[in-house]
Amino acid sequence: MAPRVLPQIDLDGYLRAADDVVIPSDGAGIEHTPDIALASCAARSGATAHKPVHVGVDLGTAYTVLFVLDEAYHPLAGAYEFAQVIRDGVVMDFRGAVELVAGLKRRIERTLGFTLTRAATCHPPGVSPAEVKAARYVLESTGLDCSTIVDEPSAANAVLGIENGAVVDIGGGTTGIAIVRDGAVVYTADEPTGGTHLSLVISGALRIPFEDAERRKTDRREQQALFPMVRPVMEKMGSIILNHIRGRDVDVVYLVGGTCAFPGIDSVIASVTGVRTVLPERPLFVTPLGVALNDLGP
Ligand SMILES: Nc1ncnc2c1ncn2[C@@H]1O[C@H](COP(=O)(O)OP(=O)(O)OP(=O)(O)O)[C@@H](O)[C@H]1O
Ligand SMILES: [Mg+2]
Repeated sequence: MAPRVLPQIDLDGYLRAADDVVIPSDGAGIEHTPDIALASCAARSGATAHKPVHVGVDLGTAYTVLFVLDEAYHPLAGAYEFAQVIRDGVVMDFRGAVELVAGLKRRIERTLGFTLTRAATCHPPGVSPAEVKAARYVLESTGLDCSTIVDEPSAANAVLGIENGAVVDIGGGTTGIAIVRDGAVVYTADEPTGGTHLSLVISGALRIPFEDAERRKTDRREQQALFPMVRPVMEKMGSIILNHIRGRDVDVVYLVGGTCAFPGIDSVIASVTGVRTVLPERPLFVTPLGVALNDLGP
């Protein structure tokens, strides 16, 4: 079980701190690395090869994210990349996945100045044991011992620390719903609607390639104009969530996952479900940080 270090600190502050240490990439393999900021952050925390760090790798349908936390579980460095090598927790392109994780690991190691040797990873609920093992093999192929493989909602809840309610993770490929009672995940479901569907709708409506739609969808300046186009997909997500929480005594929904960064999605989901909906400031990083929180040691 991940340490409950976070309920004592402000969630949005923690996510902002994580955002601050992310090494940006333009997605084309060219890195704009704020090495100075990161190196000073590493120095502040006193991170060295001799101090334990906690590492999490989240292999996503859209984004694969690697986060490193310091000894006290505070964010030290992070990196992510858009790639289509995983689909809904299933490794579709093993070599591509290994190269992707190896690249993220290299980027972070260069900044921190030491080698990462161990990491935790995660799987969506309902994935077969063979696929869960594939995630372990991806890590091992990059020289990382896999300390544990945690299910995604439990990882997210290591950060959120909620006792009762639903954690809804709207990623690229799927919407994962987990109901938490007395701090434990008691029900999970994964439905095949996610951010990719928003991009497909934009791509179809504007007759532009998927990649352009994806870029415009994540551009803050374009989101207001795109909202009416994607709202019906958000409403569908809301009704999917409602189908799973109805009759299960859920009075609050916590939104995580990259798609929840689209402004307005929380209001749409609240109005369709009729349930209070909480959205952290940086929903994209909740699950990957929770994975790293689960990397407790060898
Ligand atoms: N600022 C943003 N606004 C809107 N959507 C965003 C934003 N940032 C990321 N996304 C979308 O979030 C999705 C990726 O989120 P996330 O990393 O949580 O998913 P994933 O883990 O890769 O997918 P899955 O959980 O389905 O396997 C993509 O569809 C991406 O376009
Ligand atoms: Mg995900």
